[in-house]
Amino acid sequence: MASLLLPLLILCAASQKIPAISTAAYPSVPDTKTTDRSLSNNIDDLIPVRREVYDGGRIIDISHRYTPDMPSWHSMEMLGQFLLLRKSMRNGSLSNISEMKMPTHTGTHVDAPGHFFDHYFDAGFDVDTLDLEVLNGPALLVDVPKDKNITADVMKCLNIPKGVRRVLFRTSNTDRQLMFKKEYDTSFIGFTKDGAKWLVENTHIKLVGIDYLSVAAHDDLISAHLIFLESRDIIPVEGLKLDDVPAGIYTVHCLPLRLLGAEGSPIRCILIK
Ligand SMILES: *[C@@H]1O[C@H](CO)[C@@H](O)[C@H](O)[C@H]1NC(C)=O
Ligand SMILES: *[C@@H]1O[C@H](CO)[C@@H](O)[C@H](O)[C@H]1NC(C)=O
Ligand SMILES: *[C@@H]1O[C@H](CO)[C@@H](O)[C@H](O)[C@H]1NC(C)=O
Repeated sequence: MASLLLPLLILCAASQKIPAISTAAYPSVPDTKTTDRSLSNNIDDLIPVRREVYDGGRIIDISHRYTPDMPSWHSMEMLGQFLLLRKSMRNGSLSNISEMKMPTHTGTHVDAPGHFFDHYFDAGFDVDTLDLEVLNGPALLVDVPKDKNITADVMKCLNIPKGVRRVLFRTSNTDRQLMFKKEYDTSFIGFTKDGAKWLVENTHIKLVGIDYLSVAAHDDLISAHLIFLESRDIIPVEGLKLDDVPAGIYTVHCLPLRLLGAEGSPIRCILIK
């Protein structure tokens, strides 16, 4: 038995490298220029403030910024222009008004049961029906052993305590910066069918967070999604930005839009220390 357990323990131990958090900026996030108003002498300087963390690092934004060159689900082409200025003051309108058009499963987003179940979709199990209690509360951020899909064995070795209801799984997707690449990459890390089944049968986890566009690995795309969504009480939150956040316990807040009839929605997620 000991000989069986040892490799698993080593495997899990190897993943416990905790990166240091940078409060000023996120150097590992490409093209992110964090601006800080306190660095500006003149209050009239028109420099917008963009931050990854707030209040000295107490509030951590784990949602991705929507940009035209973020990856788009199952497409070799990036998201592209998703904002259109419909009314413009320069053209005589009273205000500037933009319209937005993009798949609901873009960037950091949530899946509703209707995503993979026709009868749930027809019955109205859309993002407006998702339980905000599940999407808000204590959460565990764990490091998945590098370069492994989340199988039943990986789930076992993560040793997530019973009772934990919200887990954010950080994988090699974050190291590979897949969410910052233009092309959709099918080699991302996700749950295999047996990993999803193990989670459903052996844990109390209801919020399953992951750091790429799908909670299910590419080869198990349908089967793992079906296992998570079937009971309608597990909520996959996908495309999380988990760079530079130490593993550990936080309070998570995730809020989807109330899109009636939509099986997915952009979601803003933050962690609070
Ligand atoms: C404003 O007018 C210019 C010139 O007619 C046009 O090219 C542009 O698309 C207009 N923009 C909007 C937002 O209406
Ligand atoms: C948008 O509105 C601002 C005023 O708030 C105006 O100065 C600007 O020209 C407008 N932009 C365009 C593209 O119309
Ligand atoms: C994870 O699974 C996908 C297919 O579902 C595969 O392309 C990828 O290489 C796997 N990753 C690892 C590290 O095994």
